[in-house]
Amino acid sequence: MSSLTNKYGQWALVTGASSGIGKEIARQLASKGFNLVLVARRKKILDELACDIKINNRVETLIVASDLSRPGAVKALYDSVSKLDIGLIVPAAGVDAMGRFLEKDYTDLESMLLLNILVPTEITHIFGQNMVNRKRSGIILISSLFGYQGIPNFAAYAASKAYILTLGETLNVELAHQGVDVLVLSPGLTDTPFSQKMDIDFSKLPMYAQRPETVARTALNALGKKPTVVSGWLNKIYAWENRFIPRAWPVMLFCFLINRAIKAHASKKQVTT
Ligand SMILES: NC(=O)c1ccc[n+]([C@@H]2O[C@H](COP(=O)([O-])OP(=O)(O)OC[C@H]3O[C@@H](n4cnc5c(N)ncnc54)[C@H](OP(=O)(O)O)[C@@H]3O)[C@@H](O)[C@H]2O)c1
Repeated sequence: MSSLTNKYGQWALVTGASSGIGKEIARQLASKGFNLVLVARRKKILDELACDIKINNRVETLIVASDLSRPGAVKALYDSVSKLDIGLIVPAAGVDAMGRFLEKDYTDLESMLLLNILVPTEITHIFGQNMVNRKRSGIILISSLFGYQGIPNFAAYAASKAYILTLGETLNVELAHQGVDVLVLSPGLTDTPFSQKMDIDFSKLPMYAQRPETVARTALNALGKKPTVVSGWLNKIYAWENRFIPRAWPVMLFCFLINRAIKAHASKKQVTT
Protein backbone atom coordinates (compact mmCIF):
# COMPACT_ATOMS: atom_id res chain seq x y z
CA MET A 1 0.00 0.00 0.00
CA SER A 2 1.24 3.50 -0.83
CA SER A 3 0.60 6.59 1.28
CA LEU A 4 -1.91 7.72 -1.37
CA THR A 5 -3.99 4.52 -1.22
CA ASN A 6 -3.77 4.67 2.58
CA LYS A 7 -5.33 8.08 2.41
CA TYR A 8 -7.77 7.83 -0.49
CA GLY A 9 -8.69 4.15 -0.61
CA GLN A 10 -8.48 1.60 -3.39
CA TRP A 11 -10.24 3.15 -6.38
CA ALA A 12 -9.37 6.18 -8.53
CA LEU A 13 -11.13 7.49 -11.63
CA VAL A 14 -9.23 9.22 -14.44
CA THR A 15 -10.80 10.81 -17.52
CA GLY A 16 -8.67 11.49 -20.57
CA ALA A 17 -6.91 8.24 -19.68
CA SER A 18 -6.23 7.23 -23.29
CA SER A 19 -3.50 9.83 -23.86
CA GLY A 20 -1.00 12.29 -22.49
CA ILE A 21 -1.23 13.58 -18.94
CA GLY A 22 -4.35 11.58 -17.98
CA LYS A 23 -2.78 8.35 -19.24
CA GLU A 24 0.40 9.01 -17.27
CA ILE A 25 -1.48 9.90 -14.09
CA ALA A 26 -3.39 6.60 -14.49
CA ARG A 27 -0.14 4.63 -14.91
CA GLN A 28 1.45 6.26 -11.85
CA LEU A 29 -1.68 5.73 -9.73
CA ALA A 30 -1.65 2.05 -10.72
CA SER A 31 2.00 1.78 -9.67
CA LYS A 32 0.93 3.17 -6.28
CA GLY A 33 -1.66 0.41 -5.93
CA PHE A 34 -4.90 2.07 -7.07
CA ASN A 35 -7.57 0.16 -8.94
CA LEU A 36 -8.60 2.37 -11.82
CA VAL A 37 -11.66 3.49 -13.71
CA LEU A 38 -10.27 4.58 -17.09
CA VAL A 39 -12.45 6.94 -19.12
CA ALA A 40 -12.07 8.27 -22.68
CA ARG A 41 -13.72 7.72 -26.08
CA ARG A 42 -11.15 5.35 -27.64
CA LYS A 43 -11.94 1.98 -26.10
CA LYS A 44 -9.17 0.09 -27.90
CA ILE A 45 -6.49 2.33 -26.41
CA LEU A 46 -8.06 2.03 -22.96
CA ASP A 47 -8.10 -1.77 -23.36
CA GLU A 48 -4.39 -1.74 -24.23
CA LEU A 49 -3.61 0.55 -21.30
CA ALA A 50 -5.61 -1.63 -18.90
CA CYS A 51 -3.75 -4.69 -20.14
CA ASP A 52 -0.39 -2.99 -19.72
CA ILE A 53 -1.32 -1.72 -16.25
CA LYS A 54 -2.43 -5.20 -15.12
CA ILE A 55 0.77 -6.83 -16.40
CA ASN A 56 2.85 -4.43 -14.33
CA ASN A 57 0.68 -3.96 -11.22
CA ARG A 58 -1.65 -6.11 -9.14
CA VAL A 59 -4.66 -3.85 -9.57
CA GLU A 60 -8.11 -3.99 -11.14
CA THR A 61 -9.32 -1.77 -13.95
CA LEU A 62 -12.72 -0.80 -15.29
CA ILE A 63 -13.03 0.82 -18.69
CA VAL A 64 -15.75 3.31 -19.50
CA ALA A 65 -15.64 4.32 -23.17
CA SER A 66 -17.63 7.51 -23.30
CA ASP A 67 -17.83 10.80 -25.13
CA LEU A 68 -18.18 12.95 -22.03
CA SER A 69 -19.46 15.92 -23.98
CA ARG A 70 -22.70 14.11 -24.89
CA PRO A 71 -25.77 15.06 -22.85
CA GLY A 72 -26.14 12.77 -19.83
CA ALA A 73 -22.68 11.23 -20.24
CA VAL A 74 -21.36 12.29 -16.83
CA LYS A 75 -24.47 10.98 -15.03
CA ALA A 76 -24.18 7.70 -16.98
CA LEU A 77 -20.50 7.48 -15.96
CA TYR A 78 -21.44 8.06 -12.31
CA ASP A 79 -24.18 5.40 -12.45
CA SER A 80 -21.86 2.87 -14.09
CA VAL A 81 -19.31 3.11 -11.25
CA SER A 82 -21.69 3.74 -8.34
CA LYS A 83 -20.85 0.40 -6.70
CA LEU A 84 -17.17 1.28 -6.43
CA ASP A 85 -15.76 3.21 -3.49
CA ILE A 86 -13.95 5.87 -5.50
CA GLY A 87 -11.75 8.08 -3.33
CA LEU A 88 -9.74 9.96 -5.94
CA ILE A 89 -10.95 11.58 -9.16
CA VAL A 90 -8.88 13.16 -11.91
CA PRO A 91 -10.99 14.73 -14.66
CA ALA A 92 -8.12 15.26 -17.10
CA ALA A 93 -9.93 15.11 -20.48
CA GLY A 94 -9.57 18.43 -22.27
CA VAL A 95 -9.12 19.96 -25.71
CA ASP A 96 -7.81 23.24 -27.09
CA ALA A 97 -9.37 25.56 -29.64
CA MET A 98 -6.44 27.43 -31.11
CA GLY A 99 -7.03 30.38 -33.43
CA ARG A 100 -8.11 34.00 -33.39
CA PHE A 101 -11.36 34.26 -31.44
CA LEU A 102 -13.58 35.75 -34.15
CA GLU A 103 -12.21 33.42 -36.81
CA LYS A 104 -13.12 30.30 -34.84
CA ASP A 105 -16.26 28.39 -35.62
CA TYR A 106 -18.54 29.05 -32.63
CA THR A 107 -19.51 25.38 -32.40
CA ASP A 108 -15.82 24.47 -31.90
CA LEU A 109 -15.55 26.99 -29.07
CA GLU A 110 -18.75 25.70 -27.53
CA SER A 111 -17.67 22.06 -27.55
CA MET A 112 -14.28 23.01 -26.08
CA LEU A 113 -15.96 24.98 -23.28
CA LEU A 114 -18.30 22.08 -22.62
CA LEU A 115 -15.48 19.57 -22.23
CA ASN A 116 -13.05 21.89 -20.41
CA ILE A 117 -15.52 23.59 -18.05
CA LEU A 118 -18.89 21.90 -17.70
CA VAL A 119 -17.71 18.28 -17.76
CA PRO A 120 -15.09 18.61 -14.97
CA THR A 121 -17.54 20.77 -12.99
CA GLU A 122 -20.27 18.15 -13.27
CA ILE A 123 -17.87 15.30 -12.45
CA THR A 124 -16.65 17.16 -9.36
CA HIS A 125 -20.22 17.96 -8.33
CA ILE A 126 -21.72 14.52 -8.87
CA PHE A 127 -18.85 12.59 -7.23
CA GLY A 128 -18.32 15.31 -4.60
CA GLN A 129 -21.01 14.17 -2.17
CA ASN A 130 -19.60 10.61 -2.02
CA MET A 131 -16.15 12.06 -1.53
CA VAL A 132 -17.35 14.12 1.42
CA ASN A 133 -19.11 11.04 2.87
CA ARG A 134 -15.88 9.03 2.64
CA LYS A 135 -14.19 11.75 4.75
CA ARG A 136 -10.79 11.17 3.09
CA SER A 137 -10.69 11.76 -0.64
CA GLY A 138 -8.94 13.72 -3.37
CA ILE A 139 -9.69 15.63 -6.55
CA ILE A 140 -7.09 16.72 -9.08
CA LEU A 141 -8.36 19.32 -11.57
CA ILE A 142 -6.28 20.16 -14.64
CA SER A 143 -5.84 23.83 -15.47
CA SER A 144 -2.88 25.20 -17.44
CA LEU A 145 -0.17 27.83 -17.27
CA PHE A 146 -2.44 29.58 -19.80
CA GLY A 147 -5.05 29.78 -17.02
CA TYR A 148 -2.89 32.38 -15.27
CA GLN A 149 -3.30 35.05 -17.96
CA GLY A 150 -5.05 35.91 -21.23
CA ILE A 151 -3.40 34.24 -24.22
CA PRO A 152 -4.11 35.63 -27.72
CA ASN A 153 -5.00 32.84 -30.17
CA PHE A 154 -6.20 30.80 -27.18
CA ALA A 155 -8.67 33.31 -25.72
CA ALA A 156 -11.53 30.96 -24.81
CA TYR A 157 -9.19 28.06 -23.96
CA ALA A 158 -7.18 30.24 -21.52
CA ALA A 159 -10.44 31.48 -20.03
CA SER A 160 -11.66 27.89 -19.57
CA LYS A 161 -8.47 27.07 -17.68
CA ALA A 162 -8.78 30.23 -15.52
CA TYR A 163 -12.23 28.95 -14.56
CA ILE A 164 -10.78 25.58 -13.48
CA LEU A 165 -8.04 27.31 -11.49
CA THR A 166 -10.59 29.43 -9.61
CA LEU A 167 -12.98 26.51 -9.11
CA GLY A 168 -10.25 24.32 -7.66
CA GLU A 169 -8.69 27.00 -5.45
CA THR A 170 -12.12 27.69 -4.00
CA LEU A 171 -13.07 24.05 -3.47
CA ASN A 172 -9.71 23.43 -1.83
CA VAL A 173 -10.85 25.76 0.97
CA GLU A 174 -14.58 24.94 0.88
CA LEU A 175 -14.06 21.16 1.15
CA ALA A 176 -10.92 21.15 3.32
CA HIS A 177 -12.85 20.66 6.56
CA GLN A 178 -14.80 17.78 5.04
CA GLY A 179 -11.67 15.77 4.33
CA VAL A 180 -11.47 16.37 0.57
CA ASP A 181 -8.06 17.39 -0.78
CA VAL A 182 -8.48 19.47 -3.94
CA LEU A 183 -5.44 20.20 -6.10
CA VAL A 184 -5.28 22.22 -9.33
CA LEU A 185 -2.44 21.06 -11.57
CA SER A 186 -1.31 23.66 -14.11
CA PRO A 187 0.97 22.13 -16.71
CA GLY A 188 2.98 24.30 -19.05
CA LEU A 189 3.88 23.02 -22.50
CA THR A 190 3.80 19.21 -22.25
CA ASP A 191 4.86 16.74 -24.89
CA THR A 192 1.53 15.07 -25.70
CA PRO A 193 -0.69 14.81 -28.82
CA PHE A 194 -2.51 17.90 -27.50
CA SER A 195 0.49 20.18 -28.13
CA GLN A 196 2.03 18.12 -30.94
CA LYS A 197 -0.89 18.86 -33.26
CA MET A 198 -0.82 22.64 -32.75
CA ASP A 199 0.29 24.82 -35.68
CA ILE A 200 2.97 26.51 -33.61
CA ASP A 201 6.75 26.42 -33.80
CA PHE A 202 7.38 25.99 -30.10
CA SER A 203 11.12 26.58 -30.55
CA LYS A 204 10.18 30.25 -31.01
CA LEU A 205 8.60 30.43 -27.55
CA PRO A 206 10.62 30.86 -24.36
CA MET A 207 9.29 27.54 -23.01
CA TYR A 208 10.47 23.98 -22.81
CA ALA A 209 8.22 20.96 -23.13
CA GLN A 210 7.94 18.69 -20.11
CA ARG A 211 7.32 14.98 -20.34
CA PRO A 212 3.84 13.88 -19.20
CA GLU A 213 5.56 11.54 -16.69
CA THR A 214 7.12 14.57 -14.95
CA VAL A 215 3.85 16.52 -14.97
CA ALA A 216 1.92 13.57 -13.53
CA ARG A 217 4.52 13.06 -10.80
CA THR A 218 4.36 16.76 -9.90
CA ALA A 219 0.59 16.46 -9.35
CA LEU A 220 0.72 13.28 -7.28
CA ASN A 221 3.50 14.70 -5.09
CA ALA A 222 1.53 17.91 -4.46
CA LEU A 223 -1.87 16.33 -3.75
CA GLY A 224 -2.95 17.00 -0.16
CA LYS A 225 -0.07 19.40 0.42
CA LYS A 226 -1.11 22.53 -1.50
CA PRO A 227 -4.09 23.93 -3.43
CA THR A 228 -2.31 24.54 -6.73
CA VAL A 229 0.85 23.41 -8.45
CA VAL A 230 2.46 24.69 -11.63
CA SER A 231 4.66 22.05 -13.22
CA GLY A 232 8.22 23.08 -14.12
CA TRP A 233 10.44 25.81 -12.65
CA LEU A 234 10.24 28.19 -15.64
CA ASN A 235 6.45 27.84 -15.74
CA LYS A 236 6.34 28.57 -12.01
CA ILE A 237 8.23 31.81 -12.65
CA TYR A 238 5.79 32.84 -15.41
CA ALA A 239 2.80 32.19 -13.19
CA TRP A 240 4.39 33.93 -10.21
CA GLU A 241 5.73 37.06 -11.92
CA ASN A 242 2.28 37.91 -13.32
CA ARG A 243 1.18 38.90 -9.83
CA PHE A 244 3.56 41.86 -9.77
CA ILE A 245 2.93 43.47 -13.15
CA PRO A 246 -0.18 44.94 -14.82
CA ARG A 247 -2.34 42.10 -16.17
CA ALA A 248 -2.20 43.48 -19.73
CA TRP A 249 1.60 43.19 -20.03
CA PRO A 250 2.02 39.41 -20.23
CA VAL A 251 -1.00 39.26 -22.57
CA MET A 252 0.71 41.67 -24.97
CA LEU A 253 3.99 39.79 -24.67
CA PHE A 254 2.32 36.46 -25.49
CA CYS A 255 0.43 38.08 -28.38
CA PHE A 256 3.78 38.93 -29.96
CA LEU A 257 5.44 35.60 -29.10
CA ILE A 258 2.60 33.33 -30.22
CA ASN A 259 1.99 35.21 -33.47
CA ARG A 260 5.71 34.88 -34.23
CA ALA A 261 5.65 31.15 -33.44
CA ILE A 262 2.56 30.62 -35.62
CA LYS A 263 4.20 32.47 -38.53
CA ALA A 264 7.40 30.43 -38.12
CA HIS A 265 5.36 27.21 -38.21
CA ALA A 266 3.50 28.36 -41.35
CA SER A 267 6.67 29.25 -43.20
CA LYS A 268 8.34 25.95 -42.22
CA LYS A 269 5.27 24.15 -43.57
CA GLN A 270 5.45 26.11 -46.84
CA VAL A 271 9.11 25.14 -47.31
CA THR A 272 8.38 21.41 -46.81
CA THR A 273 5.36 21.33 -49.21
N1 LIG B 1 -0.23 19.11 -23.36
C1 LIG B 1 -0.09 20.37 -22.93
O1 LIG B 1 0.84 21.11 -23.38
C2 LIG B 1 -1.02 20.90 -21.85
C3 LIG B 1 -0.64 22.08 -21.21
C4 LIG B 1 -1.49 22.60 -20.25
C5 LIG B 1 -2.66 21.95 -19.90
N2 LIG B 1 -3.00 20.79 -20.55
C6 LIG B 1 -4.28 20.16 -20.16
O2 LIG B 1 -4.04 18.83 -19.75
C7 LIG B 1 -5.19 18.04 -20.02
C8 LIG B 1 -4.76 16.79 -20.76
O3 LIG B 1 -4.12 17.20 -21.94
P1 LIG B 1 -3.14 16.22 -22.72
O4 LIG B 1 -1.97 17.03 -23.14
O5 LIG B 1 -2.93 14.99 -21.95
O6 LIG B 1 -4.04 15.95 -24.01
P2 LIG B 1 -4.19 14.66 -24.95
O7 LIG B 1 -2.96 13.85 -24.96
O8 LIG B 1 -4.73 15.19 -26.24
O9 LIG B 1 -5.35 13.83 -24.21
C9 LIG B 1 -6.66 14.32 -24.13
C10 LIG B 1 -7.52 13.25 -23.52
O10 LIG B 1 -8.87 13.73 -23.45
C11 LIG B 1 -9.73 12.72 -23.97
N3 LIG B 1 -10.92 13.33 -24.55
C12 LIG B 1 -10.97 14.30 -25.50
N4 LIG B 1 -12.24 14.57 -25.83
C13 LIG B 1 -13.02 13.75 -25.05
C14 LIG B 1 -14.40 13.57 -24.95
N5 LIG B 1 -15.28 14.28 -25.68
N6 LIG B 1 -14.87 12.64 -24.07
C15 LIG B 1 -14.00 11.91 -23.33
N7 LIG B 1 -12.68 12.05 -23.39
C16 LIG B 1 -12.18 12.96 -24.26
C17 LIG B 1 -8.88 12.01 -25.02
O11 LIG B 1 -9.32 10.68 -25.23
P3 LIG B 1 -10.16 10.17 -26.49
O12 LIG B 1 -9.69 10.91 -27.69
O13 LIG B 1 -9.86 8.70 -26.50
O14 LIG B 1 -11.57 10.46 -26.12
C18 LIG B 1 -7.53 11.98 -24.33
O15 LIG B 1 -7.46 10.87 -23.47
C19 LIG B 1 -6.16 18.93 -20.80
O16 LIG B 1 -7.16 19.38 -19.93
C20 LIG B 1 -5.29 20.08 -21.28
O17 LIG B 1 -6.04 21.26 -21.38
C21 LIG B 1 -2.21 20.24 -21.52
